[in-house]
Amino acid sequence: MELEVVNIEALTEDCKAFYFAVPKGKIPFKAGQFLTFVLKINQEEIRRSYSICTAEETDPFIGVAVKRVKGGLVSNYLNDHINIGDKLKIEAPAGQFVYEPDKEVTPEVLLIAGGSGITPMLSIIKTALYQHPTKRLSLLYVNRSEADIIFYKALKQLEHQFPDRLKIVHYLNEAHKGSVIVEKKLFGLFNSKSFNKDGFITTAKAQEIITSFSLSNQTPVYLCGPIGLMNIMEESLQHMGFQQLRKEHFVSNLTPSNVKVPSNAIGKATITVRLNGKKQQFDVLKGQSILEGAVLSGIDLPHSCKQGNCTACYGVCTSGDVAMITDEALTDEELAEGGILACVGYPTTKKVSIKL
Ligand SMILES: Cc1cc2nc3c(=O)[nH]c(=O)nc-3n(C[C@H](O)[C@H](O)[C@H](O)COP(=O)(O)OP(=O)(O)OC[C@H]3O[C@@H](n4cnc5c(N)ncnc54)[C@H](O)[C@@H]3O)c2cc1C
Ligand code: FES
Repeated sequence: MELEVVNIEALTEDCKAFYFAVPKGKIPFKAGQFLTFVLKINQEEIRRSYSICTAEETDPFIGVAVKRVKGGLVSNYLNDHINIGDKLKIEAPAGQFVYEPDKEVTPEVLLIAGGSGITPMLSIIKTALYQHPTKRLSLLYVNRSEADIIFYKALKQLEHQFPDRLKIVHYLNEAHKGSVIVEKKLFGLFNSKSFNKDGFITTAKAQEIITSFSLSNQTPVYLCGPIGLMNIMEESLQHMGFQQLRKEHFVSNLTPSNVKVPSNAIGKATITVRLNGKKQQFDVLKGQSILEGAVLSGIDLPHSCKQGNCTACYGVCTSGDVAMITDEALTDEELAEGGILACVGYPTTKKVSIKL
């Protein structure tokens, strides 16, 4: 579908929000999901995903926030060349990183974001505050400096509007540059001291802030940010016994050197997919992923990153078997129900059926 840009908002020096005119209810989405932009740049079709920052209940338009990545093709193109009135080709909202209040056992929710990782969180925060009056939210938001805080005003306003239900702690690297890090060694018998050169959050500091929210470790946690930050947070949360963790990775952990077709992938397989109630069949040849096989057969399966990261190509394998190069983006629950990612999935049986 083509959507018209109706508003553009400069959020920080290197991040703009783009809002699109959509008749209410015409593009249903869940808080946490993303839109895939399909652009033609230098004659090549390029896809990138951007998380929705708006909420169906509160915003008249559907919007995303795009932060420039140094040397990045699409993030800079959108920030430099897109104006109000332009039309962009966009695929339907997708993604498994969604706010699921029905599955949550506590009224509290913990959200941890870094940089542009705030975009899906803002949609979740607004949805929870406006739709579920018993929800209480704690947000830890990590940035380099105050000037880098995306949606600063919107967050402040929500905090002011819901003082008993939304707590926000901003961690700014700049404020912690040169601070002393004390690490406990040998069961706390010896301490080692060092200086935090860049001011990045440490596991000890993360645990201190999370503890200050006074949450049960049954609280569901939503996490999205740069890889380094996500690793620190995961380690801290694991240490504190938090188990209900949902993660959104904006950058894939796959590099050309670790992309290896699974050794049990078979030579040729027939894949049956059921997409929007329609059944379609195609063959996948040796070395091809299920998505590659579909594309070569002219079948348009939803996809974006092609790196097992965004989950746009998520499906459930209902018969046969599939091996994946990476399943990092899927939860244990999704894996248990037969969830697969077509872009990094390879058939290991001669016949495979998938419901998308
Ligand atoms: C599910 C999902 C949701 C996303 N939501 C958002 C969002 O709401 N807002 C947003 O700004 N971005 C978001 N992204 C990231 C976005 O899709 C692009 O990857 C990003 O804009 C960079 O694209 P590019 O074409 O500018 O850079 P490219 O030309 O693809 O990449 C240039 C270089 O930068 C590296 N790189 C790519 N992305 C990042 C990054 N985020 N941080 C650091 N280095 C990077 C690449 O590995 C490469 O080396 C999301 C990604 C996914 C998978
Ligand atoms: S296309 Fe992104 S996970 Fe498959």
